[in-house]
Amino acid sequence: MMAEATGSRKPLVEVAGVPLQAAMVDNWSQIQNFEAKPDDLLICTYPKSGTTWIQEIVDMIQQDGDEVKCQRAIIQHRHPFIEWARPPQPSGVDKANAMPSPRTLRTHLSTVLLPPSFWEKHCKFLYVARNAKDCMVSYYHFQRMNNVLPDPGTWEEYFETFVNGKVAWGSWFDHVRGWWDMRDRYQVLFLFYEDIKRNPKQEIQKVMQFMGKNLGEAVLDKIVQETSFEKMKENPMTNRSTVPKSLMDLSISSFMRKGTVGDWKNHFTVAQNEKFEEIYRKKMDGTSIRFCLEL
Ligand code: A3P
Repeated sequence: MMAEATGSRKPLVEVAGVPLQAAMVDNWSQIQNFEAKPDDLLICTYPKSGTTWIQEIVDMIQQDGDEVKCQRAIIQHRHPFIEWARPPQPSGVDKANAMPSPRTLRTHLSTVLLPPSFWEKHCKFLYVARNAKDCMVSYYHFQRMNNVLPDPGTWEEYFETFVNGKVAWGSWFDHVRGWWDMRDRYQVLFLFYEDIKRNPKQEIQKVMQFMGKNLGEAVLDKIVQETSFEKMKENPMTNRSTVPKSLMDLSISSFMRKGTVGDWKNHFTVAQNEKFEEIYRKKMDGTSIRFCLEL
C-alpha cells in the first residue's frame, strides 16, 4: 500500500488518440485481453458523470437495501476498475479475475477502447451520461485536487483542454456518442445523471429491473435515501476521505463537491458559453441524444 501514498502528475499517453494514464498504457495488452463473462455487469461512465453514485445504487440493489453490507469496503474496491493500474499493486484486471461471478465491474473506457470480449460475451452495460458543461466543471475541480492527473491550469486553459478531448479518457463528445450508438445493439441501460437527480426512485427502479431484481417500495425508498448526495458526502466509504492527501487533497476540493445540475452557470462566461454551444453543435451533429442543463 506504500505506493498509494505518492501521487505524481505524470503526463498522459495516447492510445488511438485517447489520452490515458501512463500506467494504464504500460498495461494495455493485459487490459485489451481481459476475458469478460456473459454474466458480468459493467458500469460505464465518462469521468465525473456520477460513477460513484451509480456504483452505490447498484450495490444497494444487490444488497437488498442493506446499507451495512455496503459498508464492507470503500466504493473504489467494491467493483474492479478494469483499466486501473498502479504497480506493484494488483491491476483492475487482476482484481476482476480474482472475483467470483456474477461480477460487477466498472470502466471509463470509450466503446473504441473497451476490451473486445465485453462485446463478444454480450454483457450488460450500465451507462450514465452527464451534461458536458457540468462534467467539465466537475472534472476541472477534480484535477485540481487529484495529484495523479495533470494539473488543469486555469479555468480558461482547462476549457480548451476539455473541448479538445485532451483530458484523461479523451473526448466527452466521442465517449457519449459512442455509447449512445451502442444502446440498440447491445444490452445497454443508458441513464442520465440529471434524470437520477430529478427522479431518483424512477431511475433506481430502471436499474433494478435491468439487473433482474425485484425489491419492494420500502426498500426502494431506503435506497433513494441512502444514495442521496447528503448521505454519500458524509459516508467515508463513498466520499474518498480514506484516500491519502498526497493523492487527493480534499482541502482543495471535495470529491463530493456539489452534486447539482447547472453549476456550469457559476463557471462559464457568456463568451465561453457561446463558444461551447458552437463546438457542441458541430461535434454532436446528427445524434439524437438530448441533455438537460438545468432542473
Ligand atoms: P460535482 O463535482 O459536480 O459535485 P464520479 O463519481 O463519476 O467521479 O462523479 C463525481 C460527481 O458526481 C461529483 O460532481 C459528485 O459530487 C457527484 N455525485 C456523487 N454522488 C452523488 C449523489 N449521490 N448525488 C448527486 N451527485 C453525486
